Parts: sequence; structure tokens; C-alpha cells
Amino acid sequence: MAITAISKKSKAAKQVAKALILIVEDDALQAEILKDHLESSTENCTIIRYSSGEECIKAIGKKKPTIAFIDFNLNSKNKKAMDGLKLSKKIKELNPKCETILLSDKNTEKAINDALKNSSVKFIAKDEKSLQLASAAVQDTTNPFQAMIQRFDIASKIIGLEQDVYNVIKNPSKLVEVSLPIKMDDGSIQTFDGYRVIHSTALGPSKGGIRYSTAVDADEVKALAAWMTYKCAIADIPYGGAKGGINCEPSKMSVGELERLTRAYTAAMQDIFGVDKDIPAPDMNTGPREMAWIVDEFSKIKGSFTPGIVTGKPLHLGGSLGRVEATGRGVCTSALEALAKMKMSPKKCKAAVQGFGNVGSITAKHFAMHGIKVVAISDHTAAFYDPKGIDIEKAMAYRDSNKGVLKGYKGGKLITNSELLELPVEILAPCALENQITASNASNIKAKLIVEGANGPTTAGADEILNKKGVIVIPDILANGGGVTVSYFEWVQNRTGYYHSEEEINNRADRWMKQAFANVWSVSTKHKISMRIAAYVFALEKVAKAIRSRGSY
Ligand SMILES: NC(=O)c1ccc[n+]([C@@H]2O[C@H](COP(=O)([O-])OP(=O)(O)OC[C@H]3O[C@@H](n4cnc5c(N)ncnc54)[C@H](O)[C@@H]3O)[C@@H](O)[C@H]2O)c1
Repeated sequence: MAITAISKKSKAAKQVAKALILIVEDDALQAEILKDHLESSTENCTIIRYSSGEECIKAIGKKKPTIAFIDFNLNSKNKKAMDGLKLSKKIKELNPKCETILLSDKNTEKAINDALKNSSVKFIAKDEKSLQLASAAVQDTTNPFQAMIQRFDIASKIIGLEQDVYNVIKNPSKLVEVSLPIKMDDGSIQTFDGYRVIHSTALGPSKGGIRYSTAVDADEVKALAAWMTYKCAIADIPYGGAKGGINCEPSKMSVGELERLTRAYTAAMQDIFGVDKDIPAPDMNTGPREMAWIVDEFSKIKGSFTPGIVTGKPLHLGGSLGRVEATGRGVCTSALEALAKMKMSPKKCKAAVQGFGNVGSITAKHFAMHGIKVVAISDHTAAFYDPKGIDIEKAMAYRDSNKGVLKGYKGGKLITNSELLELPVEILAPCALENQITASNASNIKAKLIVEGANGPTTAGADEILNKKGVIVIPDILANGGGVTVSYFEWVQNRTGYYHSEEEINNRADRWMKQAFANVWSVSTKHKISMRIAAYVFALEKVAKAIRSRGSY
């Protein structure tokens, strides 16, 4: 088993991939204006301009562009040349991950709309707003680590963070990459890449979940680890931040294969994990079952029963009462706190909730309990809308009897997930996955309050548009902190061996959430900044203070 531990000073731990932006435009002046704007408004990018599709395809070779801006009428000067739509499709074939955005004149808007039906290609009209939209689109395509750094940089400037402390916080303190050879059920051996990133231990042992997904890579885990540092600081729990993950497709693996993979990962990380060092928890595609395997494997390796090594365990192995509902409950608490500040009555509000798993369904349930009318819900199989309100308990019961999904539910009109985001509601709660609210749909959002149950549902490009519209966004690192708060209570209970009632846990978690909200709100009003940047400011000040007091070599 190969284990690579990369130290703080290592290049790989700090590396942020540079975005490659292509501009394919036959009008030199238009291309120059866009290039100039992008160069002045975006960082860490290389911009290359081509004047024809043929030239672009020839030059692209092994390059992996992040985003390509393509003139729709690329063949206006040479009718035989490749047009914008054709080039866009070719680039997508060569690089499926590259975002392509067509640039069009106002008078070709209808033609372009017709051409783009059923296509994932987007377009920007060449009008006065187009340059802002173009830089917002670039921000959308940056990877999660860059998206985190963009916000971190804004917050650092606001508090005038010294360069040396800035450098300490910006870079993860440790990145561990492991290769895990696992015997599959058919007898073959498959090798999986696993990661654990410790972002910071300035405020205490590092805390953060482990996710299983084919999207897991070092950049994703680095961003998520940093978010955990900020989330714990905001929630005022004595932890630093970490995250882990294994690049795998759990839905295609048997329970036996998943168990062997989880145990191999635990063995590989035995010197990283520790009750006072680094405490994992569930994240995407992991849950109490995986946590129980980790407790067992870790306890065997260390020779003593160690339930406090993870949180999110089954109750009978030392899990905490209240943990299952903690995140959704906290999302609702922060929405109620925001409504009070906005002088809006919950009983006069309608809400749309995207995602109907743990966070989404519990958020919707608590919204309904507080008189907020939940008019739309969704999961990856279907989305439903009923302006009169959806019966959340019924929808949860239906989901539980229907293999965990909403498909086929009869309590509302079938809509799409993108329609759900743009419904006429006061509150929007994205509780599913990343990058749902982007520069492309942010201007269509009607909600006055967005409360982020999911991690990273709003891109940096969308943030700008929402801020201008006056939409209040309660950021993930504040809104979904209820989960890690009760995880902390679980860890404390494991360490003391003394367990609390559900009521005690819920009351304490509500108090913690309200305090966290009040702290971030006051930073936001003091500096006249968005709640997202205020959350970063609050967290950075706290982490920086700890770093300064602890000193260094
Ligand atoms: N569970 C927690 O305690 C917790 C804590 C903090 C943050 N989060 C974050 O909240 C989010 C959801 O986590 P969860 O624990 O509820 O996961 P989950 O697996 O229980 O539920 C995810 C839900 O999202 C739905 N979904 C997936 N793709 C979708 C799509 N394209 N459109 C609409 N719905 C889609 C799924 O069908 C499911 O209903 C994740 O971003 C997670 O990182 C969870």
C-alpha cells in the first residue's frame, strides 16, 4: 500500500490549478475588450484568443480548457468556416468538462435560443451586461478550492490579515493521499485513491466527514477541509477542519467491498485519525454503517475500544440523540433568525426545498412546523410544486416506502429541478449538492432569502448577482453548522461516558445556532458585507487569533 504524506511546505499541497480560458472571436476588437475585462477581473487564469474555430481546434491539442467563449456568428467573415455552435460541440467532445458559452448579438438572440434547445451550451448576449456575466461565468467554472480562495481573499482584505498568517490559513496543513488495493467480489484487485486533508488544527483537533464519490479529488477535499475549519470556528466549537474521501462509485459496489474499502482506508489513516487529533464523520455516501466499521477497525488496531474516533455513529455504539435531525433543524433555525432580522413573518412565507435526503427533508419538516408553507420539494428523481403547500410528513412517508425517492409522488405538480429554484417563493433552501445557483440562473431567482443546507450550492459568480439583487444568502458554513455542533456534543459524550437526552441536545444546539447567526449578522452589518463574506471574516479573525497566540517554530 503506497502512502504519500505531503507536508505543509510541499508544492502539491499548495497547488491551485490555473484555469485556461479560450476566446474564439473573429472580431479582433470584441475579443480584445473581453480579454482585457477577464484579465482585470479574474485571477490565476491563462487566456488564449483564436480568430476561427479551425485555428482553435488545431491548437487545442492536449490543452484542457476550463471555459470557452465562442462567437455564435464565428463564420460571419468566412461563410465556409466553422460556426460557433459547431465549434462548441467539438470542444465539448474533446473536453466534456469544458464549459462553452456562446456570445451573440442581441438580434441573434432568438436564433441562438432556438439552436440551443436541449443543449447544455449557454450564451451571453453582447450587450452592456455581458462583460460582468462573462467574469461571473469564469468564477463559476473555477474548482472548489479556487471558489473557496476567492471568498477567503475578499475576507482577508477586509480584516487586513497579515501576509504571514494569511499564508498559514490559506494552505492546508497536511494532505495525505493513499492508494488502497481492495479485493473485489469477483477475485480481482481494484485500486482506489483515498485522501485526508487536515486544513487547520489551530482551534483544536481537526473535524470533518469522509465522502465516497467519483468526483473526489485533492482539490475538492482541500476546499471542503477549509470550509470545515471556518464552519467549526463559526459554530464556536473547539475544532479545526479536515475532510476525507475515496474516489469510488459506491452504488456499483457490494456491501462487502465497501466494508473492505472502509477498513483499508482506516488502516491507512491510523496515524492521522485520533480522538484528540482528527475525528472523521459521515459525508456524501457514508453514514452510521461506515462509521461503525471505522470504530471497529481503529479499535482493533489500537487495542482499545475508541468510539470517540468518529461521530455520526449508530446510537448503540455511542452516537448522540438529535444528530439525525441536527443539520436540517439548524438550517431552519438560521432561516427563522434571518426572517426576524428581515421583519418577515414565517407564516406569510413560502419555501422551495431542493433535495429531500437527510438535510432537505428535515429542513422542510421544520419549516412546516414553524408555519412556513413549503410549496416545492425535489430529489434527484423528481421535483413537485403545489402553491397550496406540500404535506411534508406525507412526502417523507412516501419516500421511505418508495426506496428512498420521491419519483411517483402524487402530492404536487411535476416540475423540473431548475424550475424549483426559480419559483415565486420567499425562501429557497438548496439542500442537495454543489453549484446549483450559478451565474446562469441567479438573476431568475425570486426568493428573498437563500439558506444553504448543502455545501457549496451557490457559485462565486452567482454570489455577485444575488448581492446586487439584495437577496440574503445564509451561507453553508453558517446554515448547516447544526450537524457538526451535535457531532461535537457526541464526541464530548463519548469522552465523558455521560449521555444527554434529545431535548437537552436540541435546546443546546438551537442556542448555539442562534448565537452563531447573531455573530455573523453583526459582522455583516458592521462591515456592510454579505453574510457569506461576514462568515469568512468572523471565522478568519478567530483562526488568525489562535495562530498568533500559539506562535510558530
Ligand atoms: N447530513 C448532514 O449532516 C450534513 C451536514 C452538513 C452539510 N451537509 C450537506 O448537505 C447536502 C445534502 O446532504 P444529505 O446528508 O442530505 O445527503 P442525502 O444523501 O441524505 O440527500 C441528498 C438529497 O439530494 C438529492 N439530490 C441529489 N442530486 C440532486 C439533484 N441533481 N437535484 C435535486 N436533488 C438531488 C438526493 O436525491 C437526496 O434527496 C450535501 O451537500 C452535504 O454535504 C450534510
